[in-house]
This record gives sequence, C-alpha cells and structure tokens, in this order.
Amino acid sequence: MSRLIVISNRVQQLNQQTGGNQGGLAVALMAALRERGGTWFGWSGETVETFTGTIHVEHQGRVSSAVIDLEPQDVDEYYNGFANRTLWPLFHFRLDLTEFERDFAGGYARVNRRFADTVRPMIDDDDLVWVHDYHLIPLGAELRARGVGNRMGFFLHIPWPPSRLLTSLPSHRRMVETLFAYDIVGFHTADWLDSFLDYVVTELDGTLGDDGQVTVGTRTIRAIVAPIGIETAEFEAAARSPEANFARDRMYMSATGRSLIVGVDRLDYSKGLEERFAGYERFLSQHPERRGLVYLLQIAPPSREKVDTYQEIRGNLDAMSGRINGEYADIDWVPIRYVNKGYPRAELAGIFRAARIGLVTPLRDGMNLVAKEYVAAQDPADPGVLILSTFAGAAAQLKDAVLVNPYSAEEMSDAIVTALTMPRAERIRRWEAMIDGIRREDVHWWCGHFLDALQSEPAAHPA
Ligand code: G6P
Repeated sequence: MSRLIVISNRVQQLNQQTGGNQGGLAVALMAALRERGGTWFGWSGETVETFTGTIHVEHQGRVSSAVIDLEPQDVDEYYNGFANRTLWPLFHFRLDLTEFERDFAGGYARVNRRFADTVRPMIDDDDLVWVHDYHLIPLGAELRARGVGNRMGFFLHIPWPPSRLLTSLPSHRRMVETLFAYDIVGFHTADWLDSFLDYVVTELDGTLGDDGQVTVGTRTIRAIVAPIGIETAEFEAAARSPEANFARDRMYMSATGRSLIVGVDRLDYSKGLEERFAGYERFLSQHPERRGLVYLLQIAPPSREKVDTYQEIRGNLDAMSGRINGEYADIDWVPIRYVNKGYPRAELAGIFRAARIGLVTPLRDGMNLVAKEYVAAQDPADPGVLILSTFAGAAAQLKDAVLVNPYSAEEMSDAIVTALTMPRAERIRRWEAMIDGIRREDVHWWCGHFLDALQSEPAAHPA
C-alpha cells in the first residue's frame, strides 16, 4: 500500500489530540493515515512575522503531522479572505455575502505556492497525495509545476455551486482549470458532481466519458461521488460509554419529563441557525399546549470570528435566543438553551442519545456529519427522530429522516410535531433504515473508496 500525504488547511496535530474533541473530517483522515502510514501537512493556525517555511513535525507511529506558520497578511487574504469571504459563501449559494477582492485572490495564490514549496520535498515517488477542500484548489497545479508526477486526488467537502453562480467569480475559469492537475476529483453527492460537470461542459468546453472521465483540452481526469461517513462503530460505542451516560443523565435530570430537541453546529450562516430558531419559535407560538414539554439545546461553537458575517450572525442569534426566551420562558422552563462552546465527542454522543429530536437544518451543506452522528448515537429500542434539511448533502442518503425545507418556519414547526408524536414502531423503522447505510458506508469505506479510485489511476503523470 502506498504511503499517504494528506494536505489540508487545518491539520489535526498529533500533539494536540484532545481525547475525542476532533471534528468528523479530522477523525476520518487520521483513520486513513493510521491505516497506510504517512503525513498530514497544512497550516499550524499560528502566524509568524515573516514567512520562513519552517516545518514543525510530530511523529506518532507511522503517522506524522507537519505544519507551517503563515504571515498575518496570508491569514487575512487567504484564510479570512479568499477562502472564507469569497469561496465559502459563493459555494454555499450566498452570492449576497460573497466579497470579490483582488488582494484575496493574490493571497490565496501566494499561500498555495507556499504550501507547494514546503511540502514538495516531503513527497516520495510512490506516495498518494490527497488534497482537501476549497482552501487548496490550485495546489495540485502548483505541485505539478514543481515536478510532482504522483497520483494526486482532490476532495471538495463543501457544495459545488450552480454554474450561473460560479461564473460571478472573476477568476472562475482559471481556478477550475487547475483542478485538471489532479487525477481524481471527489464530491459528497451526485448534485455537487452534476454542477461541476455542467460547469466543465458549458464554460470549459469539456467532454464527459463513461466512467466519470472528464476531458478538457488534453487533460482527462475522473470525477467521482464519494459520500463521507463517520466512524460509526466507534461513535456507537462512545454513545454507550460512561461519559455519554453521564451526559445523558445530566440532560434528563436537568429537565425531567421534557423532550430534548438538539442542534450542534459550528456558528456559521450556512447552518441555518436563525431559520431554525424561527422555525422553533413558530412551533412554540402555534402549539401553546406543547410549551413547557420540550426544550431546544443549541450547541454552537464560534467559528471564523475575524470575518464580519460571522460576527453578525452571532449577534443575531444572541438577540433571537434572548427574545424568544424572554417571550416564552416560565419560572421553571426556558425554551432555548444556547451554548457557544464545543463538547468532547463522547459527551455529545450522550446528549444525542438523550434527545428525542435531532435538528439538522443547514441552508446548504456539503454533507453534514452531525446528522449521521445523531442517528448512530440512538438507542435502537427507542430511537429519536432526525429532522434533516433537504439541502444537506446527507439528505441524499438519509431518506428516512423527516426531511424539511429549512427556509420554511411552518415546515419546521410541522416537522417538530411529527417527530414528537411519531409512534415508536415508526421511529424504529426509520432508524433501522438509516443506521444500515451509516454502518455500511462509514468513514473507512469512504477513504477506501476514494483511495482505491486514486490508486487505480495510471501511474506516471507528466510533470
Ligand atoms: C468545514 C470545511 C473544513 C473546515 C471546517 C471548519 O467543514 O469543509 O475544511 O476545516 O469547516 O472550519 P475552519 O475554518 O475552522 O477550519
């Protein structure tokens, strides 16, 4: 088996493992690295006055993490700029929030070159190179320019937007063309893949082959769908751990006899949190008889706090939760518990298990692993109900969730009632239908699927 070089903006540094506090992507990639051996390369999250290219390496068995510091200007233009003020909103269909600045595009190109310069000497001839996400789209082309002939794959963890939106990006053609430096390009769903293919055909005059082959000019790559999963077995076990039981009991004891509705999301406008609060408020106003019998726990750790759209959404949610609680709370009941911090995975698993409803209602999401984790944490004999946005990538697989349009407060309110009144037999039937796929297509399946596709590409690539 070839060694693996994973490259992404954020790296799970080996010396910073916090006992299960990592996100789904980190868990997924660590699992793949442990299986094959290799290195995970990226940004340390730290800044240094002048870029030096010094690599900080940590080893753990056959796996190492290697990170570099960036300059403040890099972070402003590349991470807070092009990645999170331009590509993130645009790829989540939010043209209204997308900022177009040449400096951002320049910083993005510069950091991708810096990544390429520093990681290049770490790549051996036989290694598979796997680049992740929207921060590093042009990295493959930069590595080819530095003589890397290895098999290289790219995976996009966010949606691919419709062509008519993407063409509003001034440098859209140049950016998408760089994807043709990879051998395999992966997406979570057929929807995102179809949008990519539509762009390639309409904007780049590309042609499509039988087995996912996509040709532009003289370059043919394969574009595939590989929906990411979770570490299902580990998560199911975590949901039965003493930490999970403790968290579950804490939830029960703090609200005896009340049904818990839970949401866990990074504090991000794509997650539809304002719309979720509005939907829950609609439920409270339309169903006075149910007030006091349910409560919403929204866990939302802050994210990308330097970006003003994120500051705005935080302010809006503070105001909304305060207003809704002020209007509906009673002396012994608060309708929304709104918590701005993260929790270890085992604790989350226990909270999910205690929750009668998992509310996962992003306005747009590449996949959404919380939906899968909520299902995996349930008690098979008495499972809760997942309410899931049709606009989450996960909805393509979790068809037995209660699917909602997250923009509609009425649909959300109806879905909450449906979930609260759903008979146990139906809850079990839906849960069994969902857990089956979540077990089968777990994160190990996902890695294997992508890496098999990459490994089976013809070897040498002209530098
Ligand atoms: C999404 C992206 C990831 C990113 C994560 C956290 O899941 O697809 O690439 O790492 O959000 O965002 P952050 O900006 O904190 O890395």
